[in-house]
Amino acid sequence: MNDAIQPGPENPPQATGTPQLSVIVPTFNERDNVTTLFQRLQVALAGVPWEVVFVDDNSPDGTWEVVRGLALQDSRVRCIRRIGRRGLSGACIEGILASSAPCAAVIDADLQHDETQLPKMLALLNGGEYDLVVGSRYIEGGSADSFNKQRAGASQLATEVAKRVLGVEIADPMSGFFMISRDRFEQLAPRLSTQGFKILLDIVATGRGDLRVKEIPFTFGSRLHGESKLDSMVALDFLGLVLAKLTHDVVSLRFLLFAMVGSIGLFVHLAALYIALEAFDLPFAEAQACGALSAMTSNFILNNFLTYRDQRLKGFAILRGLLLFYLVCSVGLFANVGVAFSVYDQEPVWWLAGAAGALMGVVWNYAMSGLFVWRKR
Ligand code: GDD
Ligand code: MN
Repeated sequence: MNDAIQPGPENPPQATGTPQLSVIVPTFNERDNVTTLFQRLQVALAGVPWEVVFVDDNSPDGTWEVVRGLALQDSRVRCIRRIGRRGLSGACIEGILASSAPCAAVIDADLQHDETQLPKMLALLNGGEYDLVVGSRYIEGGSADSFNKQRAGASQLATEVAKRVLGVEIADPMSGFFMISRDRFEQLAPRLSTQGFKILLDIVATGRGDLRVKEIPFTFGSRLHGESKLDSMVALDFLGLVLAKLTHDVVSLRFLLFAMVGSIGLFVHLAALYIALEAFDLPFAEAQACGALSAMTSNFILNNFLTYRDQRLKGFAILRGLLLFYLVCSVGLFANVGVAFSVYDQEPVWWLAGAAGALMGVVWNYAMSGLFVWRKR
């Protein structure tokens, strides 16, 4: 029998029956943490029928293998192994939707959240007065002392922006530790973003005014093993979410980034054209082709790095992606010129026709790149 399951003082007798609580644990490279977390859940939730769903994005360290081992020993454990996808929010959404208890909790795998609060959170939800209970670091009794200065500052800034811009009223909308009633979650799920880190903020902003929220304090601890997956790019994710919520999901950050990269491409194009003409003395047609090729290449690199960083192409796939991107953009150019011509035909205003063509080009390139170059597997 696996150590994690053996009866003993660590493993008190467990409640049976249909699960009242589903605990969702998103994981990426948490191999050394999941068994300890499972043991701690057993202790904390001894009086409650519960289940745990690990959602692993095909971790290179084989976290999913360890979870499968636990699941073979204890049927309350399940593992969703997602291939070709990355993202904390999406993992949480999928995990909650794959479970069926009336209440669902989300918790980090690395023991930074306080699992001993779960029974209290469950009692609050079951009391019927609340739809969502949030583990909060920023109310009396809570803390995040393990944060370094930079991270603490970033967290506070994001919290302030969320409160002012989105009108979110809770003290810690950036928390990753919460419990929600299934019914309410199922209602909100279709409108939640699967990109990014800020699932709780998304839930609170999307269900604004409607959700009855209770915050309880907890101490954000230190990571047991491994390292944080938050990088400086989460700031981008955060901005994207704010933007999407502000515009009622009309503007996506991905499209804006794609368009921004396209504008940078214009400068690259002009610079390369200039160099080809002046430094290499190329005839105009060849120089212009050089400009276009440079712009497409730099656009591809920037998009792979920024716009599609969650689906970044690596290794050999980069070459294939680049060739497809050239193809997509070349067709986009025809679409661009075609639209510009027909607008000019009806309304001979050069800038209107030019802008319409450029817009057509960018929309085409964006749509086709998403379909063919950075397509979801
Ligand atoms: N499936 C999946 N996919 N899981 C992920 C991914 C991903 O792309 N990225 C991170 N995770 C898992 C981690 O393995 C961990 O269990 C949990 O999500 C949180 O990630 P951490 O890397 O531990 O984040 P953190 O501790 O720095 O940030 C925590 O605090 C933030 C508040 O400051 C998280 O709880 C955040 O959600 C929270 O916003
Ligand atoms: Mn963590």
